[in-house]
Amino acid sequence: MIGVFDSGIGGLTVVRCIMDQLPDEAIVYLGDTARTPYGNKSPDTIVKYSLNNVRFLLEQGADLIVIACNTASSHAYDAISSRYALPVFEVIGPGAQLAVAQSRKKRIGVIGTRATIASGAYARHIKALCPRASVFAVPSPLLVPLVEEGWQGKPETAMIVRKYLRPLKNRQIDALILGCTHYPVLRQVIQRKMGANVVLIDSAEAVAAKVARHLRGVGKNFLPPGKTGESQCRIFVTDIADQFQQTARRILKRRLTIEHADIRF
Ligand code: DGL
Repeated sequence: MIGVFDSGIGGLTVVRCIMDQLPDEAIVYLGDTARTPYGNKSPDTIVKYSLNNVRFLLEQGADLIVIACNTASSHAYDAISSRYALPVFEVIGPGAQLAVAQSRKKRIGVIGTRATIASGAYARHIKALCPRASVFAVPSPLLVPLVEEGWQGKPETAMIVRKYLRPLKNRQIDALILGCTHYPVLRQVIQRKMGANVVLIDSAEAVAAKVARHLRGVGKNFLPPGKTGESQCRIFVTDIADQFQQTARRILKRRLTIEHADIRF
């Protein structure tokens, strides 16, 4: 079973891609809504929360972990993968790879939480793949609560997006990494503000493809024939948030039951 976690709702953009690519796979998701956002927490706190989340997913039967959160990927991947002997996937590497492949000019923008941008993880991955690339990173912390609130269509959101993107507008970037799993929910407004010449990079698809390749490679983890993954996605949150159900339904395009995760903090 694939265990996926995020600080809140954003990781469901990754779940949707996993479902598209592996429709028969069972998934258990944890959104840590009680402690979101992670993006303005210290690295130690992000590691501690992430390890709590992984433990919960393992208790539910996960045998592979997807860190569907850039903030946790950039700070907690090493702690998780060194503690647990199971496959762990993060979103930064696949996102960086996709950006380098899709950017012709190798001038790449990144937006993400404060913690993700401060970690320098995207710039490091991109430079390792393409030393001549230029990376322009801008923290955009207010976008996370706007998505959690379901405000993607509001004019105030468009205004804040425009303000965050302004410093990137005159950098001649041709690719912009949505370096937070919440941001694909704002894809339309971000694309409008950046213009059609900038390709938006969403690491969700890239990480889902990587998980699919891994599972096909090891030839296991698929449900027996005849069972479908439709009923096999359980979604847990650490705190029930009113907006969660509605926004989750919009992201996953299906009816859902949200369960409460009784997690020991
Ligand atoms: N969705 C998360 C990310 O990809 C975290 C947002 C937050 O909790 O600040 O970074």
